Amino acid sequence: MATVKRSARTLKVAPVLALKGLKKRYGGKLVLDGINLSLAEHEVVCLIGASGSGKSTLLRCADLLEPIDAGQISLDGERVAFEDRSADGTRRKLGIVFQGFNLFPHLTVLENVALAPRVALGLTQVAAERRAKELLKSLGLAEKAREYPDRLSGGQQQRVAIARALATEPKVLLLDEITSALDPVLVAEVLETLRSLALSGMTMLIATHEMAFAADVADRICYLEDGRLIEEGTPQKMFGAPRDPGQKSSSAASAPSVRLVPSAAQDRGLNGRYAPRDNLFAWGSSCASRLLVAG
Ligand SMILES: Nc1ncnc2c1ncn2[C@@H]1O[C@H](COP(=O)(O)OP(=O)(O)OP(=O)(O)O)[C@@H](O)[C@H]1O
Ligand SMILES: [Mg+2]
Repeated sequence: MATVKRSARTLKVAPVLALKGLKKRYGGKLVLDGINLSLAEHEVVCLIGASGSGKSTLLRCADLLEPIDAGQISLDGERVAFEDRSADGTRRKLGIVFQGFNLFPHLTVLENVALAPRVALGLTQVAAERRAKELLKSLGLAEKAREYPDRLSGGQQQRVAIARALATEPKVLLLDEITSALDPVLVAEVLETLRSLALSGMTMLIATHEMAFAADVADRICYLEDGRLIEEGTPQKMFGAPRDPGQKSSSAASAPSVRLVPSAAQDRGLNGRYAPRDNLFAWGSSCASRLLVAG
């Protein structure tokens, strides 16, 4: 996979995905309350926030899987809506990966990945399989192409799910807590894949509880609370990590003064709510060193 060096100068100004005044209700409850969020091309944005703050709902609405009650969604400069979800050219610009891998158990890894380009892009089977093989190779899964999903580890299955989401060459990849069902070793493997994708310039919106990873990979962190985006900024601003911008990986996780919670969350005494894993910080450091070695 290409590892193009990313920097602020490579980010384009025009948003690839723009959410404006997004509101979503479930029953009487306002779950998203006027979300404004834009992603520039190549930008990686991490959504953080306590359980129930609306991260998954935001991703599902952005992916046109759920209708919204108010607001606008623009994709690649064009306004889109839930009703467009099956329109040619709209859905395939969006790729989404969930916590559960949702692979088809009766299809091989290769068939799982080749299905979307055949159906959504109308590629021939040969062309779709060629694309699927390239993707699997770039994600280190070439030798698993003929296996069925249940013969793969959780981390490998999640990487297949990522390959499948990438198979239609989406403009934006949406990822919802994709490591939360995995053991720490497998988490590191999947996060390494995401970091490579970020370095290759993939635009990504990632809901995560992995603070060390968010600090390492994100250009911007958005903190949600009760359906509102109440604080956003660079990892440095949000986590207070003293960072050298040229040393993205090492400093975020190794600096002892990293707060790992944005100030708004700290003000509300929510530190404890950001520790889904014991010793997250130590784990994040070891993960980051692995990523550095791999990079
Ligand atoms: N299909 C649904 N029907 C009714 N309420 C829902 C539905 N999906 C989500 N909600 C509610 O919307 C709110 C936001 O949920 P959401 O799943 O978006 O939170 P989250 O930030 O992703 O949480 P977590 O970190 O636990 O994944 C919660 O109060 C949840 O109960
Ligand atoms: Mg969620």
